[in-house]
Amino acid sequence: MSSASLGFFDSGVGGLTVVRAVQELLPAENILYLGDTARLPYGSKSPETIRQFADEDVRFLIARGVKAIVVACNTATAHALPSLHEKYRIPILGVIEPGVEAALACPHALRIGIIATRGTIRSHAYQHALALRRTGLMIHGQATPLLVPLIEENWLDHPATRQVLKTYLDPLIEKGIDTLMLACTHYPLLIPVLREILPADVRLVDSATTCAEHLKVELSRLGLLEPSAREGTLELHLTDLSEEFEALARQFLLKSPGRIHRATVGG
Ligand code: DGL
Repeated sequence: MSSASLGFFDSGVGGLTVVRAVQELLPAENILYLGDTARLPYGSKSPETIRQFADEDVRFLIARGVKAIVVACNTATAHALPSLHEKYRIPILGVIEPGVEAALACPHALRIGIIATRGTIRSHAYQHALALRRTGLMIHGQATPLLVPLIEENWLDHPATRQVLKTYLDPLIEKGIDTLMLACTHYPLLIPVLREILPADVRLVDSATTCAEHLKVELSRLGLLEPSAREGTLELHLTDLSEEFEALARQFLLKSPGRIHRATVGG
């Protein structure tokens, strides 16, 4: 079982930021990635629909014999992780706990801004997890629904993206945030533009690296770490294929994604 693949899923390519961190930390692991591009975005859907999609994504991965699953999507983690834990016995990790841990790794973090999909902000999953761990925090959640379509369009360094980001970030900057949580797995691709817009002393936090560390601890605890030393494989499955996907996936992975398969989930 330890040589089986790790399964990841997201609504699109965003979860590849988590895959990249896992490839860096656990290079021997084989990875099977599902991007539900046909039904993206998840962030504007109702909690019930997100739970249904997440359940179908998990079933797709389990049917392919994965040994553990990473919900590489904040929206799906926020709304579906508890029900997935109830329903399935396979280890399933989300990205919210690791993100919160990364944000609070700095003892001076006090005014925390969160940018995320509408679904994640409305779930209050981050706000609750932060407040449980540290008292006296000032937490400002900002839904940023236009960012995922702009990123999926590969408009990473585009005047329109810059303008949209400024509009979203101004209220957070006015509140004097010291930390900005990128609470959507797509957003790390915007880090260069974010750095230009935000005051230099605002710390940017995403969950990818901490999530990879959590995964390593969990796999090792369960005796599921890949035993071989050779480089692991990456298999990408998407529910809708677009011509732009390969270029976009390369931006996320910093290398070619290889062959991309068409997937059918649910139904
Ligand atoms: N990448 C997903 C997340 O982390 C959001 C994308 C979407 O809205 O579908 O929340």
